Amino acid sequence: MPDLFSPFALKGVVLRNRIAMSPMTQYRSTDGKMGDFHVMLMGSRAAGGFGLVFPEQIAITPDGRTGVHCAGIYDDAQIEGLSRVTQIIKDMGAVPAIQLGHTGRKGSEQRPWEGKRQIAPDHPDGWQVRGPSPIPYGGRYTFPVQELSAGEIAELHRAYASAAKRALAAGFEWLEMHFAHGYLGASFFSPLANQRTDEYGGSLDNRLRFHREAMDAVRGVWPERLPLTMRLGSDDFNEHGVRFDDAVYAVGMMKEHGLDLADLSLGMNTDATEDLPFDRAAFMVERGARVRREVGIPVGVSWNLGLPAVADRVIREGLIDLVLLGRPALANPHWPVWAARELAHNDPFELLPQDWSWWLRNRPGSEGSHGLPEAGRRVGAGPG
Ligand SMILES: Cc1cc2nc3c(=O)[nH]c(=O)nc-3n(C[C@H](O)[C@H](O)[C@H](O)COP(=O)(O)O)c2cc1C
Repeated sequence: MPDLFSPFALKGVVLRNRIAMSPMTQYRSTDGKMGDFHVMLMGSRAAGGFGLVFPEQIAITPDGRTGVHCAGIYDDAQIEGLSRVTQIIKDMGAVPAIQLGHTGRKGSEQRPWEGKRQIAPDHPDGWQVRGPSPIPYGGRYTFPVQELSAGEIAELHRAYASAAKRALAAGFEWLEMHFAHGYLGASFFSPLANQRTDEYGGSLDNRLRFHREAMDAVRGVWPERLPLTMRLGSDDFNEHGVRFDDAVYAVGMMKEHGLDLADLSLGMNTDATEDLPFDRAAFMVERGARVRREVGIPVGVSWNLGLPAVADRVIREGLIDLVLLGRPALANPHWPVWAARELAHNDPFELLPQDWSWWLRNRPGSEGSHGLPEAGRRVGAGPG
């Protein structure tokens, strides 16, 4: 039975362990480009032992960004910065993954620490947001939403294909479609945001047409040997929205369209939710396990998996295949090494670059001198 540190093979790619840095928007791009900050962030996590490293949701069109400071892949000029990121990730022994997305009606937003409010379309940093139907999300997303025409939807699918080609040119080896968190894919799926009467709305099959066509467009240019995955907004926690049974059906359908792994997350299509499970450990795992069992496809999930014993258990019990870490990866670049120490792994430093591991293995010093807990137990406060 694999554990958290067992390699994970998917298509032609092998991860050195089951630990992924989950995509996290950083709001540090200019003209959608990545730079030194991103090389530092992703390089340090790859050097810290993560098996798979995602930068952030990367937009397929300029209006698909969360805000003007977010990354994009809609212009060849963006390939160079992305290539620097994939190169450092590979140099440090991890696999570089890209998450392609479009924020739909939740775009044109301020940075979180500036208020996270939507910016008016006539403001220099704002734009006209688009979605399946002219229904604003509400709350802090106040501006009118322009309904996408069928022709514009086809253009977006072409943008997905162009983005996938650029992702390949930039050296990514794993591609995730972002269909969660209330962004465009999530809103086509949800009756709360999609009230179209054409072939992209109404029945569940129609509400999944956008996704099928996007998958087909990407799979057409993304090599078969490389994984194609999807983060799905699997539950709106609202009686009129997406329910988890719909997600199980959707994953089965996308499997027929080339999906290699499902990453289940939340719908986030409304603030009007039933009891959200944000304070519960590992709350997506049971749902992921159901998809894994019923659809017969590898599954990864995030949300509250930052305790090593919990992350290890969900792999050992065969519930999911891959643990995605968001906040723990921000807090601790060496989370995998720390977890390996906590779990009494026989050689935690093997996850590090060779020269560092040589020093740490061969120069043990006094207890805790390397700044990590001793294997399997926490370091005490030490002499006062
Ligand atoms: C700063 C920040 C930015 C995020 N940006 C994205 C994103 O771009 N795409 C995405 O799918 N999820 C995003 N998320 C969600 C994380 O990928 C992850 O699913 C979530 O934080 C739950 O995992 P955790 O409990 O390990 O933090 C973001 C989370 C954080 C904290």
